Amino acid sequence: MPKKDLISVGNLSPQEVEEIFLLTDKLKADAADFKSALAGKTLALIFQKPSNRTRVSFDVGMYQLGGNSVYLSPGEINLGVRESISDAAKTLSRYVDGIVLRTFEHKNVLELAKYAEVPVINGLSDFSHPCQALADIYTIREKLGALKGKTLAYVGDGNNVCNSLLYACARVSLNMNTATPKGYEPDGAVFESARATAFGCGAKLQLTHSPQEAVAGVDVIYTDVWASMGQEKEAAKREKAFKDFQVNAKLLKLAKKGALIMHCLPAHRGKEITEDVIDGKNSVVFDQAENRLHVQKAVLIKLLGNRNGR
Ligand code: CP
Ligand code: NVA
Repeated sequence: MPKKDLISVGNLSPQEVEEIFLLTDKLKADAADFKSALAGKTLALIFQKPSNRTRVSFDVGMYQLGGNSVYLSPGEINLGVRESISDAAKTLSRYVDGIVLRTFEHKNVLELAKYAEVPVINGLSDFSHPCQALADIYTIREKLGALKGKTLAYVGDGNNVCNSLLYACARVSLNMNTATPKGYEPDGAVFESARATAFGCGAKLQLTHSPQEAVAGVDVIYTDVWASMGQEKEAAKREKAFKDFQVNAKLLKLAKKGALIMHCLPAHRGKEITEDVIDGKNSVVFDQAENRLHVQKAVLIKLLGNRNGR
């Protein structure tokens, strides 16, 4: 059986997304049933950027499924510098059953997946963050039930998280309004492809430069940092460009009463989101963080379980 990777939500069909969620439901309902699901399997975690949620949830997830993980910090593998990505991929494939990579350029994930003989999971690249978007949609599904006809407003930078949310919303028939400053829109090809999928699923994706327009009457408001990891030098410039895109109490008033507040974390409180809003009663940011664990366990079982009898 050929190996399967998780590189982008764009590579998943709506059915595959639903299957991941159904398995996540089972994992949440009875984690003990799965305590040997990945017995004897090992996951390598190659991180070229810092992480709390992604690293810990994959590490703990493997442990809870009866397997284990090996964390490789930026200095250890030194991917592409100490040795080529292809040599590292082929070597690791002789030791481990799956690889998570958090990196800068998305092409690094594609190259690792090309040469690895074991499944590769994108743990965040500059282009996408699929595990985040899957956990986010799973969280909305838990809180709101049926997604068809509901709308998520993403306010802020058209970054990796935004790209993945576009793909994910399209696959679960959730409408998505994206508001960014001019010049900070999501990837054009992602938007067009997601819009076509959404159309087929009866959902609508819209782009605007007005946060007020994006959040009017919506069920969910989502934001992320204005400067992502690797963009620290642009922070001051971005702060100016995004100053009218803060998720605050005034903006929240325009959404549906009780609208969910979401953020992938880490958050810069007082910048993209105010303290009162992120700590408010409608904030589900820690449910999102928790669901990273459950959804990724489902992904790990799907990709690493019962491959080649190993
Ligand atoms: N949301 C997320 O991926 O968090 P970390 O950067 O801490 O892994
Ligand atoms: N857009 C952010 C997400 C962090 C989880 C970044 O790439 O830094």
